[in-house]
Amino acid sequence: MTVREILKMGDPRLLRVAQPVTAFDSDELHLLITDLLDTMAAANGAGLAAPQIGVDLQVVIFGSGEFNPRYPDAPTVPRTVLCNPVITPLTEDGQSLGAFEEELGWEGCLSVPGLRAMVPRYAHIHYAGFDQYGDPIERTVSGFHARVVQHECDHLIGKLYPMRVRDFTQFGFTKVLFPGLDAGVDD
Ligand code: NI
Repeated sequence: MTVREILKMGDPRLLRVAQPVTAFDSDELHLLITDLLDTMAAANGAGLAAPQIGVDLQVVIFGSGEFNPRYPDAPTVPRTVLCNPVITPLTEDGQSLGAFEEELGWEGCLSVPGLRAMVPRYAHIHYAGFDQYGDPIERTVSGFHARVVQHECDHLIGKLYPMRVRDFTQFGFTKVLFPGLDAGVDD
């Protein structure tokens, strides 16, 4: 088990556009996935992207298989390894052209410890990519699942959630915003 250091906002490695994975089912990729899973579990994260541990590859993991003290009210999202993701926003009735509905929701990030903000995201998306074995993944999702995927995939294009915030009156310290939330970690 290797818990890696999570880079914090201000580190220029978080601002890079990550490189696509070209070798699937490799020892190197499996080791990266193990480290990401161990690091996410140790931090009670709902997701983690390879750039957050300094690895310049298009790999994200996310999911909340069980209760997460950082997000006690979050719906369950299947534990997923996603490489080279492509996100397509959808309209409410599943079309890829038209008016894409946005939703506001609270987000935090292990690279931005101690803070939460209301972040606008597409309410409905289709996403595609590959797992660590090179098998394709394709899903159409909404709500919290869609939010988590958009947040994690933003890390692959050098975007942190504060860059998506529009209303800075809804951006603050977790302990002040949610005094009852026992996050179990320092953020
Ligand atoms: Ni994040």
